[in-house]
Amino acid sequence: MAKILVTGGTGFIGSHTVVELHNAGYEVVIVDDLSNSNPKILQQLETITGQQPEFVELDLCDEAKVKAFAEQHSDISGVIHFAAFKAVGESVQKPLKYYRNNFYSLINLINAFNSELNLVFSSSCTVYGQPDVLPVTELAPTKKAESPYGNTKQIAEEILQETCAVTPSLKVISLRYFNPVGAHESALIGELPIGVPQNLVPFITQSAIGKRGPITVHGNDYDTVDGSAVRDYIHVVDLAKAHVAAIRRLEAEKAASNYEVFNLGTGTGTTVLQVIAAFEESTGEKLNYTIGGRRDGDVEKVWGDVSKASNELGWTAELGIAEMMSSAWNWEKYLRDNPF
Ligand code: WQD
Repeated sequence: MAKILVTGGTGFIGSHTVVELHNAGYEVVIVDDLSNSNPKILQQLETITGQQPEFVELDLCDEAKVKAFAEQHSDISGVIHFAAFKAVGESVQKPLKYYRNNFYSLINLINAFNSELNLVFSSSCTVYGQPDVLPVTELAPTKKAESPYGNTKQIAEEILQETCAVTPSLKVISLRYFNPVGAHESALIGELPIGVPQNLVPFITQSAIGKRGPITVHGNDYDTVDGSAVRDYIHVVDLAKAHVAAIRRLEAEKAASNYEVFNLGTGTGTTVLQVIAAFEESTGEKLNYTIGGRRDGDVEKVWGDVSKASNELGWTAELGIAEMMSSAWNWEKYLRDNPF
């Protein structure tokens, strides 16, 4: 049974990917420093899958420890690298923390496996900024990042592309996520924001459960159908399944290049107000919201052209906005009744 290393595997997308890897017959080892996740997720994963994945608490910035880990796990056939800091606002306040962590961890990981590696890299649609053409394809130019966080994703992709160009033994797929939302159907794992959620959907569910006040809609004067900003929301379980498809593509060695990029979205744009309406419709909960000013750094509208992932990864998102909202709500209710 092939063994896959999932760095950041106790995190939101990482934990859902661990479940889908298990479902696809892979053995999993998780490395995480628990700086932005809760170890109880490991028990939740055991409940969902019937076995607790091997877990090693490790700071990937510690070069010697990462090297020792790789030497002790020479049977790892692929790596899915989620471990990174990802809070846009915090990255503006603490840029060095983000550049150090997100680059040291990536470089240490590649070096520890002597660049002989199948690597799936967690990237983001944030590399596009505000695209000139929509839907945005993988060929669209990247734009100057709005935050150090976004810049770490852009530069990491360049590091990987330039390294792959001179390292045939390193095979990489960068996955550019649009907006991951929702939770596993069991409601045992989901998004665990620390503090006041910056992202829309966790704020919605915390507002609906009474942990937060009304939602502030950041701007309704955009050039969109209802004036609020447009995003391509994708269910986290669909996103997780795409990572299994990427690992399988790397194993099959069918790619023309040892560095590839795929958009992971639904190909559909949804406004903030439409998300609010979808949540109310799918849960029966009434939301309170107010209209505020635009949020610094926000793009007006972005959604992905996802044909490349469909044609070459054989993957397409299957879950719609209603399931995204109902699963996110079920997870929020689980957290209320079973506080972590
Ligand atoms: C979505 C829309 C907000 C909160 C971020 C990162 C991106 C990626 C996904 C990691 C925007 C509006 C939000 C609120 C609101 N993360 N909003 N009221 O900013 O599109 O993307 O998460 O890769 O890199 O930038 O997601 O959920 O914060 O915002 O009106 O209370 O909801 O203005 O239009 P975003 P988001």
